[in-house]
Amino acid sequence: MSPDPHGAVELDLDERPFTERGSRLLVTAGPDGLRVARAEYETRLADTLELTGLVLRDADGHPLPVRAATPTAVEFAGGAALLFADPVTLVLTGQDVHASWRLPDGTARQLSLDGCHVLLGPPGEWSAAAVRAAAEARWAAWFARMPAVRPDLVVAAATAWWTLAVNLLPIAGREGLVPSKYGYVGVWNWDALFHAVALRHADPALARDQILLFLDHQLPDGRLPDVVHEHGVLSDTTDLPRSDHARLAEHVGTANGARPTPGPVPVTKPPLAAWAVWKVHETAPDLPFLAAAYPRLVRAHRWWFAVSDPDGDGLPEYLHPYSSGLDDSPVWDHGPRAEPPDLNSYLVLEADRLADIADALGRPDEAADWRSRAAAHTDLLVARRWDGTRFTTLAAGAPVPVRTALDLMPLFTGRLPADIAAALDRILRSPAFWGERPVPTVAFDDPAFDPEAMWRGPVWLNINYLLIEGLRRSGFAGTAAELRARTLAMVRDAGGLYEYWNPLTGTRARTATSGFGWSAALFVDLAAEG
Ligand code: GLC
Repeated sequence: MSPDPHGAVELDLDERPFTERGSRLLVTAGPDGLRVARAEYETRLADTLELTGLVLRDADGHPLPVRAATPTAVEFAGGAALLFADPVTLVLTGQDVHASWRLPDGTARQLSLDGCHVLLGPPGEWSAAAVRAAAEARWAAWFARMPAVRPDLVVAAATAWWTLAVNLLPIAGREGLVPSKYGYVGVWNWDALFHAVALRHADPALARDQILLFLDHQLPDGRLPDVVHEHGVLSDTTDLPRSDHARLAEHVGTANGARPTPGPVPVTKPPLAAWAVWKVHETAPDLPFLAAAYPRLVRAHRWWFAVSDPDGDGLPEYLHPYSSGLDDSPVWDHGPRAEPPDLNSYLVLEADRLADIADALGRPDEAADWRSRAAAHTDLLVARRWDGTRFTTLAAGAPVPVRTALDLMPLFTGRLPADIAAALDRILRSPAFWGERPVPTVAFDDPAFDPEAMWRGPVWLNINYLLIEGLRRSGFAGTAAELRARTLAMVRDAGGLYEYWNPLTGTRARTATSGFGWSAALFVDLAAEG
């Protein structure tokens, strides 16, 4: 029998904190007891502590250790528990228990517990039994909507499903799924699209909300911002946190004589919004949603050609590392603007999806126009960037020798000439990219390969997911199935929904965050296929 998903999730109060859908509060284990902090945009948890050193003791003064932590409650020996009464209220329940903790200014607090006490949040009267029953019902309802998966994937999928719930926060008037309450507290553009892919199975309206959050914040020139957060948006370099400027100055190269463009540079993320809209629509058809999204998707698509193609050759470039979504890739060692082969592959697919949407909306002429654009764009990509053996990456207008997983992304179009598609499939299955845990984001034999460094070698689930789709679309179902199987096994065996994995060991890369939204989303979506 497969384990019950609801009972399968154990919180370690470290990688998996005790937290709740809609709540910024995170309960973790500290050196001297439990601590509670608030997750906020670009703020370290050490700066948002609400309390530390929470310890419970029995009437004789013996410590009552945490017995178990589940999505519903932190359970202490002796029957006491910590529970969410609502997203801003944490309550302690128990009888004959002594609790002590400290406030951020060092003030010590204590109390003798006899019933239900508000530990954090507005004062109020709560019934322990009612709070527990409501928490259990909330989680039972959420897990009841988890897609079915194979028995060996239940624990990882349930943990992923829990991650998707607790990463939901109220942002800009909607419920937005943040990449992680550790370090990424906002809604990032392409993350939101990957999140929508998983949410469509359980709650299509919530999936649409992830996409609408960005369409709502479209800029007058048509671009979609990089981030929407509780204080506003990040849509050009003037919105970047100061620490990001320092980081970029350190690693972005100035080869080829390139200098960062003076003045604000637009910042967005790779164009995949029409792809995501169509995936949600396929699972849960909704013509009014398509009709509302379509004109905005068209404007977003045109932005790339109007603004993000500085040399005007019809093949747009990324004008900023963050717009590629691959911030630290060695592509950026060569200059501050670049054109890896993924961008124009995504734009081809977007044109095909705009065609599907136009067809669904009863606009066959527009659909035909989008399809001919997709065909012409593919021809241009092949004519200009296929050198006979591989697709090249340009940095600041010149070819660079770096070999990344993005070189394979033209498969995503499903429109390549058969011999070129076959060559990409062969490259993927060669020792440069294949191993027990494909796909390294930089080729294993590239001098820049580093198995631990962000986007410089580790496996990322979104890249694998897009390649799996591309392989299927291009007629390589066998390679796609093998890549899917290896991806699922890697995540299952590593024991967490990390941001990225070391492709040599299959373990969490040192600097990768945990509870990562798109890893959770795409793992569930791949696992749900049966
Ligand atoms: C990092 C990634 C980027 C992602 C963001 C939020 O900056 O490089 O692709 O969108 O985190 O997860």
